[in-house]
Amino acid sequence: MPREPLNLSQNPASPSKVPAAEYLIRKTATPSDWAAVHRICCETGNGGEPINSERHAFFGEQWTGPYRRLRPEWTYVATEPAGGVIGYLTGTPDTHRFRREKLLRFSLPLAFSVLRGQFPSNGDTRRFLQRTFFLDRGPEESFDKKVLRDTFDRFPAHLHINVRSGHRSGGLGARLIEAFLADLRQQGVSGVHLFCGEKPKPFYTRHSFQTLATLEFRPNLYVYLLGKKL
Ligand SMILES: CC(C)(COP(=O)(O)OP(=O)(O)OC[C@H]1O[C@@H](n2cnc3c(N)ncnc32)[C@H](O)[C@@H]1OP(=O)(O)O)[C@@H](O)C(=O)NCCC(=O)NCCS
Repeated sequence: MPREPLNLSQNPASPSKVPAAEYLIRKTATPSDWAAVHRICCETGNGGEPINSERHAFFGEQWTGPYRRLRPEWTYVATEPAGGVIGYLTGTPDTHRFRREKLLRFSLPLAFSVLRGQFPSNGDTRRFLQRTFFLDRGPEESFDKKVLRDTFDRFPAHLHINVRSGHRSGGLGARLIEAFLADLRQQGVSGVHLFCGEKPKPFYTRHSFQTLATLEFRPNLYVYLLGKKL
């Protein structure tokens, strides 16, 4: 059963009194859905908090662009009854294939756009170039290679999920994830994995994800690889 939302009157940015069950969960369809997904990605990109506005153009493209370009049919949005998008889930049922396609059809073209100066240069663009050309490793690539390969074999799907601040803890995340898992099961996908930090981990544990591996990416900064059989 969806839970009642918390009293959010202390968050004037986007208070919500609407029970989670009244929000609509649907697949993304329109360019304005994607603009909202990009915006929410940036509003939540710093461990659930907003990133600086000068980072938005590249950061949003880096994280949501692959799904918009390669797997639009596996992206879900949560909308208010009035239509505003307040949360999303991006994902894919086939991580091995997605990663290959992402490198060739998304990351390399984006890297060349960065090199041509189409985005303001910042720490995000520099890290992205280094990681795309294998000069550096992000948290996900820093896990043991065999662990990653086995995970992608046994839990082939993956996901990213974000809900706007002021609309959290009302059951929306649960509804988004359930919509994705139901479609994966219908397609016969055997499992799903994801990477996350300390804070959102209880959300996934609540949905029966198990810890497959833990990495101390930087001193006291832990990244978890979680998986769930379907
Ligand atoms: C994680 C997230 C998508 C869950 O969506 P949601 O709508 O809040 O999820 P639900 O209402 O279904 O479940 C909320 C439960 O998840 C857990 N949870 C979620 N985020 C949490 C956090 N930051 N710290 C601790 N617990 C958290 C708690 O158990 C919480 O229950 P509670 O409110 O009773 O404590 C949302 O909180 C969010 O966008 N957080 C910021 C961005 C983020 O961390 N995204 C995930 C990146 S891997």
